Amino acid sequence: MRQRADGLLQQMTLDEKLGQLSQLFQFEPKKAIDEKVAAGQLGSILFVTSPAEINRLQHLAVDNTRLHIPLIFGFDVIHGFRTIFPVPIAMAASWDPAAVMRAQTVAAKEARSVGIDWAFAPMLDIARDPRWGRIVEGAGEDPYLGSAIAAAQVHGFQGDYIGAPDHILACMKHFAGYGAAIGGRDYDEAYIPETLLYNVYLAPFHAAVKAGIGSAMSAYLDLNDVPATGNRWLLHDVLRDQWKFSGFVVSDANSVKSLETHGYARDVNEAALSAFNAGVNMEMAINFTAYSKGLKPALENGQITKQEIDDAVRPILEMKIRLGLFEHPFADVDRSKQVLATPEHRTVSRETAERTAVLLRNEGRVLPLSKTAYKKIAVVGPLADSQPDTLGSWVFQDDLQETVTILAGLRNKIGAKAEITYAPGVQIARKFPSFFDDIFHLKTPPAWTAEQAKEEMAKAVTLARTSDLAILVLGEAQNMSGEAASRESLDLPGREEQLLEAVAALGKPVVLVLLNGRPLNIKWAARHIPAILDVWYPGTQGGNAVANLLFGDAVPGGKLPITWPRDEGQIPTYYAHNTTQAPENQGKRYWDEDSTPLYPFGYGLSYSAFAFSNLTLSRSEITPGETLDVSVDVENTGAIAADEVAQLYIRQQYGSTSRPVRELKGFQRLTLAPHEKKKLHFSLGNDELTYWSTATKAWVEEPVTFDVWVGGDSTATLHANFNITK
Ligand code: NOJ
Repeated sequence: MRQRADGLLQQMTLDEKLGQLSQLFQFEPKKAIDEKVAAGQLGSILFVTSPAEINRLQHLAVDNTRLHIPLIFGFDVIHGFRTIFPVPIAMAASWDPAAVMRAQTVAAKEARSVGIDWAFAPMLDIARDPRWGRIVEGAGEDPYLGSAIAAAQVHGFQGDYIGAPDHILACMKHFAGYGAAIGGRDYDEAYIPETLLYNVYLAPFHAAVKAGIGSAMSAYLDLNDVPATGNRWLLHDVLRDQWKFSGFVVSDANSVKSLETHGYARDVNEAALSAFNAGVNMEMAINFTAYSKGLKPALENGQITKQEIDDAVRPILEMKIRLGLFEHPFADVDRSKQVLATPEHRTVSRETAERTAVLLRNEGRVLPLSKTAYKKIAVVGPLADSQPDTLGSWVFQDDLQETVTILAGLRNKIGAKAEITYAPGVQIARKFPSFFDDIFHLKTPPAWTAEQAKEEMAKAVTLARTSDLAILVLGEAQNMSGEAASRESLDLPGREEQLLEAVAALGKPVVLVLLNGRPLNIKWAARHIPAILDVWYPGTQGGNAVANLLFGDAVPGGKLPITWPRDEGQIPTYYAHNTTQAPENQGKRYWDEDSTPLYPFGYGLSYSAFAFSNLTLSRSEITPGETLDVSVDVENTGAIAADEVAQLYIRQQYGSTSRPVRELKGFQRLTLAPHEKKKLHFSLGNDELTYWSTATKAWVEEPVTFDVWVGGDSTATLHANFNITK
């Protein structure tokens, strides 16, 4: 592979090399792009999703250019390609890496079948501020869960090795710190101290590198005053020197030119030079790349060398070789039709959605619903019959008819036994529209007049009044969550809260189904609505999955991958904070509201119940580098088979720096039959007990006392201790 890449490099002109370092968007066929491809001056294209168009462009590259170097086609395959899976934060809520891997395996297969070789996923940004819209694209707030989900995604996309059949190259993004955008405002700067960078924000990226990821995307953000795309410490010292990453780095869209916008480079040429020197191999851009303009003069001026250009191009060529693009550059259009959205893929999507839902409340065991008790059911809310809102962001809307809304899913399940009526009740919209609405062909219906709004609300309430059960489907529309979808408030959008309260006031049985990519302010609902099921954006089969969950043909077992605040005033709030002065008052830090979350990290109910007992450590003392075994019994104390996620937390009691009150260091999702009891084992060793100490500037495993808790969420009480001795 190396020889083959070097052989090509020896024959390539400078323009051809710079071409390999350039990637452009193609939203529709364009003469300028065709010409560049045919001249060997473009290495990659993103956003083309039709196999016929991919093949046309690939023919231009392979047939017309001197060296026949194929293009690599990239796309945001975030949670499925044609078969859409639950959004990434939902997949993390499954606490089931095997399920996440299965989903991304299907996504890879569908994408590869149309000629897409490269997913701009997984997004590994830790996010602790739910105002940030892209929290939906990640695995939440925790580095340990985030790392497990990261590795699962890498294996799902790439398979056992880069170039495995029916798999694609993965790209970890956004390297790094993007999730810490100040104020939760997408694209804003972040200031992240070293301790959080090493112990929290970088951890999932390191896990992805260890899992063999082949590419990385630099972030838009300005990190500690050095924009990530020009940040040599990140892209070189950490990524390549410390972690030995041997793949290639692509910039985010236009983020090389943004170095000028940030005031980090004087002009576009300097921006190109700085990104190149930092370690960005390929530049992603919308109309033209700064690399195609700035790197030639830099070479002529002696600011960079020919050797450095070759070193930047080599891993890109190697990746094209490993992916088999030289041998099989084209998509098989007929086969792609057979691969996309098969019944098997849809089944995987439904099962994944069933595993990702989190039951937040179930007072008086309202759920699961009886299939025979309700003759008239009112389904209410603007999201209940909306296909785009069932899918979430990063989805082309081409095949919406495949998507089962919650209303449709309920009708599929019990339409023959009950009369199901529907009314949206309210409309919801962004104050500032999203530029993604155009990109993803989202059609927004005209806004109601004030008169219509009144009538629609009244109609929904009347439907609920004349029914035996109301199922409210509320939350955020898909364009309210995702890139450039930050919010200042976490309220239910528009007049959804009024609709909720009006329906609840009727005194009928009522269930709230939430569609969302972030925790929302449901303080009122958490006191007054007996049953709340968070289904995130559940994907193509969302409606069928939700109907199974509501009627007990599936049992919720998901757990929150993020702390759910009471309201936005608590942000940021995360479970792994440090112990500080007067910890006994931790829950009363504000005088006007509890400072505990509404729902803690790791929380989620079941239709069954579980008991943890018999927490046993194999040893009470170990020396650094040794491992101890933690075992615990988990029993399903209820009458139905159900899943529990056993979670292990530790606390380092003291040390060279202060450490969090709790840190997740192990978890296992398991299914237990009624009254079944199982013994689980976890191991604690160097990987779990080492952290980056800012005091000693080293990775340390300190000879101190540790607490251990195991249970069903981050407030677990079953406890033990052990010591590390010198
Ligand atoms: C910008 C986004 O930040 C990134 O996540 C995405 O992969 C690229 N655009 C390409 O769509």
